[in-house]
Amino acid sequence: MANETPSPQRLAMTRPDDWHVHLRDGAMLSLTVRDTARRFARAIVMPNLDPPVVTTAQALHYRQRILDALPAGLRFDPLMTLYLTDQTPATEMAAAKASGRVHGVKWYPAGATTNSARGVTDIRRCEAVLAAMEDQDLPLLVHGEVTDPAVDVFDREQVFIERELAPLLERHPQLRVVLEHITTRQAVDFVTQAPPRVAATITVHHLLLNRNALFTGGLRPHHYCLPVLKREEHRRALLRAATGGNPKFFLGTDSAPHARRDKESACGCAGIYTAHAAIELYAEVFAAEAALDRLQAFACFHGADFYGLPRNTESLTLERKPWAVSPQIGEGEDALIPLRAGESVAWRIASELEPSPIGHEDCVA
Ligand code: DOR
Ligand code: ZN
Repeated sequence: MANETPSPQRLAMTRPDDWHVHLRDGAMLSLTVRDTARRFARAIVMPNLDPPVVTTAQALHYRQRILDALPAGLRFDPLMTLYLTDQTPATEMAAAKASGRVHGVKWYPAGATTNSARGVTDIRRCEAVLAAMEDQDLPLLVHGEVTDPAVDVFDREQVFIERELAPLLERHPQLRVVLEHITTRQAVDFVTQAPPRVAATITVHHLLLNRNALFTGGLRPHHYCLPVLKREEHRRALLRAATGGNPKFFLGTDSAPHARRDKESACGCAGIYTAHAAIELYAEVFAAEAALDRLQAFACFHGADFYGLPRNTESLTLERKPWAVSPQIGEGEDALIPLRAGESVAWRIASELEPSPIGHEDCVA
């Protein structure tokens, strides 16, 4: 006799948040904001525009452009971040905190990834800023990869943790830190053992794919991101972390759109676009792990609690009903090629968003 519980076909949950997303600017913004805001109530918006968002004033202007691009009827609160540079003045941290709109400062090691040229050359140049962040209780959001060309690209996260992150946490005992888009067993172990002020985001593409996906039947530029996909043993460690119920781990898609021409190129950009199906793909992952009952905490509670923000009160219902992802979003060479382009996703959003009694009324388009 079968004693297995049938896997659920519907999942009603609190509306989730995305604690790491790239929305970009200009023409691309209306595509990305629509996809993200259809799913997520709030998102931590990365500041690596060209030029980057380095001041609170720039962050507030960018936030307004995001709200201007928001389709009518969608409620969405963009949570802004600043891009740390060698020149960032410590005084900017008080302004950032006082704005109520800036929720973190992003550390890109210079040269580590897309639009990181103006990033930090040596974090020891930023000691005064980091001390001000401790005073203001502004979290540091970390792209955790060394740029040392002598370090193998698959080892850059683990070496970063040893060389940069562990000493930094010692030097700044009050600083709250999010290690973004973790990809390795070593990062999972480090964050698990660290004090509660240290947390991590986990992308859906690192939960779904291992590094074989870069080479399936040929070179796959749309599976190229940074940190690069890792071995299966690391993917398994991420799955255990995401589904394990530990509040230090929460959802951050790192959805990172690049025009098709920039991906399908002799020197293709790093980034995977997942905003079009993000929560649906996380549901697939959690269902495959028989952990759907853990999705809500990972997607809706842990991040809000870490950032000291209220949990959302709106709801979202997912149902297990496959749908086909369109082969591209937008037109021609400017189009985005989303993850699973032309293939199917097992879960879909069943509910229209319900009107909220609370919340982000200043963000209604
Ligand atoms: O794959 C990535 N894309 N990783 C990053 O760190 C940056 C991002 C982007 O902005 O395209
Ligand atoms: Zn990112």
